[in-house]
Amino acid sequence: MRFTHEPDEYLKNYKEYDALDEIKFLPEQSKEEVIGKLKEISFRKKEIAQKQNDIISEYIEPFENGTKTLDADDAEMLHAFLRSLAPKGTVTFEVSVALRLCRILYSYYHGINDREHTIQILAIGTNAEMRLSIRQSKKGFLEFPKLSEEYLPVFEELTPDEQNDLFNAYSYCIYTTDKENYKKIPQLYPKMYENIISCVRIAGDRARIKQIMYIHFGNVCSIVGDIIRANADESNHGRPPVAEIDKVMFRKMLDAPLHEIGENADNVIGDPFNTLLIKLHVNAMRYYLDEISFDEMCEENDHIRIPEEPADFKVIFDLLITTYYISNISCFRPYSQEENMRLALNEIDRVMPMVLEMKKQKDDRFSYFILGFLSNVSLFRSASEFYDNVLDFTVFADKALYIHTVMVREISHLLLEHILDEYPEYLNGVCGWDTDHILTHRKEALELMDKCAMCHDIGKHFLIDIVSNSSRRLTEDEFSIIKTHPVNVEIVWAMDFEGSEEHKCLRDCAMLHHRWHNGQGGYPDVPHTKNRPFVDIISIADSLDAATDFIGRPYGKGKNIDDLIGEFLEMGGTRYSMEVAGILSKDEVRNAVNELITEHREEVNYRIYAFNHYK
Ligand SMILES: [Fe+2]
Ligand SMILES: [Fe+2]
Repeated sequence: MRFTHEPDEYLKNYKEYDALDEIKFLPEQSKEEVIGKLKEISFRKKEIAQKQNDIISEYIEPFENGTKTLDADDAEMLHAFLRSLAPKGTVTFEVSVALRLCRILYSYYHGINDREHTIQILAIGTNAEMRLSIRQSKKGFLEFPKLSEEYLPVFEELTPDEQNDLFNAYSYCIYTTDKENYKKIPQLYPKMYENIISCVRIAGDRARIKQIMYIHFGNVCSIVGDIIRANADESNHGRPPVAEIDKVMFRKMLDAPLHEIGENADNVIGDPFNTLLIKLHVNAMRYYLDEISFDEMCEENDHIRIPEEPADFKVIFDLLITTYYISNISCFRPYSQEENMRLALNEIDRVMPMVLEMKKQKDDRFSYFILGFLSNVSLFRSASEFYDNVLDFTVFADKALYIHTVMVREISHLLLEHILDEYPEYLNGVCGWDTDHILTHRKEALELMDKCAMCHDIGKHFLIDIVSNSSRRLTEDEFSIIKTHPVNVEIVWAMDFEGSEEHKCLRDCAMLHHRWHNGQGGYPDVPHTKNRPFVDIISIADSLDAATDFIGRPYGKGKNIDDLIGEFLEMGGTRYSMEVAGILSKDEVRNAVNELITEHREEVNYRIYAFNHYK
């Protein structure tokens, strides 16, 4: 036996880890009992994380860094590992681990001219790469779809399965998240289109190939839609001045697939989800190209039926059509504001309970749709309603994140109280207030701080599925994804942050809490604002909670508060604010914070695990 772990062990551990988060307590259980159990779970999580790291050290790292060379037996084991993460060829668990396996396996199979396996890996690799790239705003085209082009000239010789896999990968060739490259797409497209058409010709009438062609078509449509939206002119209900669209080119991109679909979409595509998706796209394209009116598009869409079977299609599709629908309402619907609002809110209320349920399932496939939904909700809900919605999402999706945000709120609140008492001038300028205003509006300032703290990690909703099992060592890709969470505040909460001073403050706290106090380090590279004093407080509260959590974080015992205060003071003026660190170091404040991170933390954990909420 060359490997000490079985290839499916990683997935088993992963599932066990996730199941630990699902633990339920009853309100009648005592606090001691609950906290004891949570600590046990934490310990178990740490053990699992260690095992996962061991598996990665054995299965992946030696081949990545070249200390071991893959041979046929190894490849079989790695491939079995990959299959466990990507049952049915779709990556369902641990996207970045799957991508690493794909890269190793691709170069092995390609190197030994194993065409069948190379093409299989191209398809899975494409799937993984696409999911990661969405979260990273990666520049340029994807690696695996591009590699798949190599096999197009021999398409005719491939087996039907190989043709499917290859085509599946290649159909994403045009897919890119790089907005700057949109311009290049129409130039690249003619050659791609020729390739696709000739492959379809070779493959004949086989439904699967056609279905893939529609995925490709869907990509084209969404890219065209994105280009159009990027140029949108609000006075024209979101439609750009027609002259600015290269109509001939778009028409060409759309014509043949539209012709293929014809009236027979249901029969040809076979898969209800794709059929409906394509119909939606087609309708939207016709509207963009001025062939039908907005009302005609809505009417057509209303006729699209949601399939009852299979059940998960129904759920995804219902969510998708809602998201699509309400985003179209927000962008294009030429009705009154009130009417738009009413329509959108109806849809949101209908779908919300389902979305919460899906969020709990932590299935990678759902997550992206949920985000689209959440972001749309923020366009319609009032700020305070959205705030409540987000908190609900957090409780459902990630209790640890919820506990962390509550703790950051408690610590920030306490720090702010002391700053208001002892050094109110420090807050001058926050939210456009001067010191006098702040002193006479103490309650308001504290309430705003509570909200800012509760929302500081709101951007993590955009990456929970990618890094939720994050106790193992993270990859560079994953670190770069995590670092996008401050910026993601603007995706999750798509409100107009310039509109109100309070919203701006909220945005700044989420955006800048990992940026150094002196603006010389951390991320993202965005300058501080007049709200920096609030950011300073949250930044210290954030580090303090993360470093001292001895219940929820499976890192073993948390750090000592006095050591931490020492670190804050040492980095005062650079990483942290010297003023806030100074206030924290006073005995009275230090003792009160210490109480928060010990007894009070137990209380927060207890109430959230046993009662599901902590308001
Ligand atoms: Fe954060
Ligand atoms: Fe945080």
